[in-house]
Amino acid sequence: MCGIVGYIGTQAASSILIEGLKTLEYRGYDSAGVATISEGQLQRTRAKGKLKNLQVKLEGLEDPARLGIGHTRWATHGKPEEHNAHPHTDTKERIAVVQNGIIENYRELREELKAKGHEFRSDTDTEVIPHLIAEYLENPTGDAVLTEQSRLLEAARHAMTRLEGAFAIALISLDFPDELIVVRQQAPLVIGFGQGEFFCASDTPAIMPYTQAVLTLENGEIARLTPLGAEVYDFTGHRLKKYPQTLNWNPIMVEKQGFKHFMLKEIYEQPGVVRTCLETYLDTAWDTQSSHSPIKLNLPDALLDDLQHVQILACGTSWHASLVGKYLLEQVSGIPTVVQYASEFRYAPAPLMPHTLTIGVTQSGETADTLAALDMEQQRRSKSGNADYSPRMLGITNRADSSLSRLVPHIVDTKAGLEIGVAATKTFVAQLMAFYFLSLDLAYRRQAISLERLAEIIEGLRQLPAQLELVLESQERYVEELSHDFSETRDFIFIGRGINYPIALEGALKLKEISYIHAEGYPAGEMKHGPIALLDEKVPVVAIATKGTVYEKVLSNAQEAKARDARLIGVVPMNDPDAEETFDALLPVPNVDELLSPILTVVPLQLLSYHIAARRGLDVDQPRNLAKSVTVE
Ligand code: G6P
Repeated sequence: MCGIVGYIGTQAASSILIEGLKTLEYRGYDSAGVATISEGQLQRTRAKGKLKNLQVKLEGLEDPARLGIGHTRWATHGKPEEHNAHPHTDTKERIAVVQNGIIENYRELREELKAKGHEFRSDTDTEVIPHLIAEYLENPTGDAVLTEQSRLLEAARHAMTRLEGAFAIALISLDFPDELIVVRQQAPLVIGFGQGEFFCASDTPAIMPYTQAVLTLENGEIARLTPLGAEVYDFTGHRLKKYPQTLNWNPIMVEKQGFKHFMLKEIYEQPGVVRTCLETYLDTAWDTQSSHSPIKLNLPDALLDDLQHVQILACGTSWHASLVGKYLLEQVSGIPTVVQYASEFRYAPAPLMPHTLTIGVTQSGETADTLAALDMEQQRRSKSGNADYSPRMLGITNRADSSLSRLVPHIVDTKAGLEIGVAATKTFVAQLMAFYFLSLDLAYRRQAISLERLAEIIEGLRQLPAQLELVLESQERYVEELSHDFSETRDFIFIGRGINYPIALEGALKLKEISYIHAEGYPAGEMKHGPIALLDEKVPVVAIATKGTVYEKVLSNAQEAKARDARLIGVVPMNDPDAEETFDALLPVPNVDELLSPILTVVPLQLLSYHIAARRGLDVDQPRNLAKSVTVE
């Protein structure tokens, strides 16, 4: 959460900072601010609310600065008011700092610094950082291993050793007008290398328009950027040899390309995403005569062989994808699987089970709870001293360049391309694809599936891109019209069973996130044990009823809701007379193998929540109080 950017070079810094912040606004949008240095002046501008408020304040201001930092905030400590907006400064306003993360020991540092005469002007944890650096600049102590030219770096490095928590920082000082200092400790930070210029940001899209050469800092690293070069050190002051890598993202990915919102664009990208996943992970030459797996995940045997259990750790939409994963791993591969919220697992892990594959699912690869839970599990297993419990760790992520890939040794890249809308859509579908591939590969390895059935499922997977296109073409107009009926609706219920129960949860989450309508996802068979009491003519029920083991059961559950006057909307197979008779409104999808149905059934639900929110005039891509990547606990 929170986005930080920085620039040092020959171009006008402030427009680069604002353009960078625009691409990082998905990380938080409670307030924004920039600080620049030129002609002996540190100029700081901050505004409450979204970035456009800051832009209004900056309009018409001529700022020749070639050095600056910027921030877009998701409030943790201190209300989203202007005085809490970053950048924060020291008492003399000579040092400016932006931070993403939480400084856990800020209270004691604040008291210590106040006692030394530092004046605090915000309620944030971040403000201790500029004061601490100012203190060390004035009273240098400790093991200075750097030269006189690096005094700012040395003071900042020293300050870092005092901070507890997870953070990424960028800072500048009026007394060092040719230096930009950046730090990473458990929160992402990348450095972009240009010609005589450097960029830094919480995420690569902010620097993509300027350079493809990027260095991702590791935890515990601090870098000094000057127009002449980049130096990277560890927190003990030792210089490290680091080189940039070339990005393969493309700037076009951060444009809406004619769509009104990124979310709608990303919903429409789903057929292409599934196609890319199939091209990457499916062996097109495979048939039942082949003597190898049809799946090309390139994971080592030691990770997947002789498994007795799988445990999956995730948050939010990734947790929903993991529930579909559990269904597949149990029903297709025959492996008992548990799915845990990473935030819960951290403080109450189950006793260790032997021969267990631990999977972390996070589209961003940066969710603090998921990373911490995985780290804890990896250490717990390594320390157990029992080979049966040794860690087997796998990450499923859309960001192969993220912190997750540095934490766990094996990654499945979901290949969905950059997702900007805060509500996850195409990355969810791509996570489901990863679980199809993993469960089929395991089923093949364990001989838990016949080759004929495997071939049937693979053929079904191949049809999905065209079927997704059909769903999008046939439904968008209708769903848009249907959304008019819900302008006053305050509650929704989504029901599903079996492999589509997680899709009911995901449908409800999408609606909550972007339309602020109360919605509950429920296993259809459990309705009668409580939620049915909520039903009347004002509460629509969306039921996912696809052909397979629970089709008739879901239809019966839908009838029970109808008998309580609820308006019934069905995500149902195309051309199905039973469904036509049961539901008041139909969202038909092609009649596919039940196992593959979630890829299709989620799409009408994404469209429904999108159109309801868009019709209400809400900020679909940046819903209130949320952030796409939650890098605080
Ligand atoms: C945030 C986002 C959700 C997302 C969750 C987990 O809450 O708003 O859309 O599902 O984080 O994110 P991850 O990157 O770990 O999948």
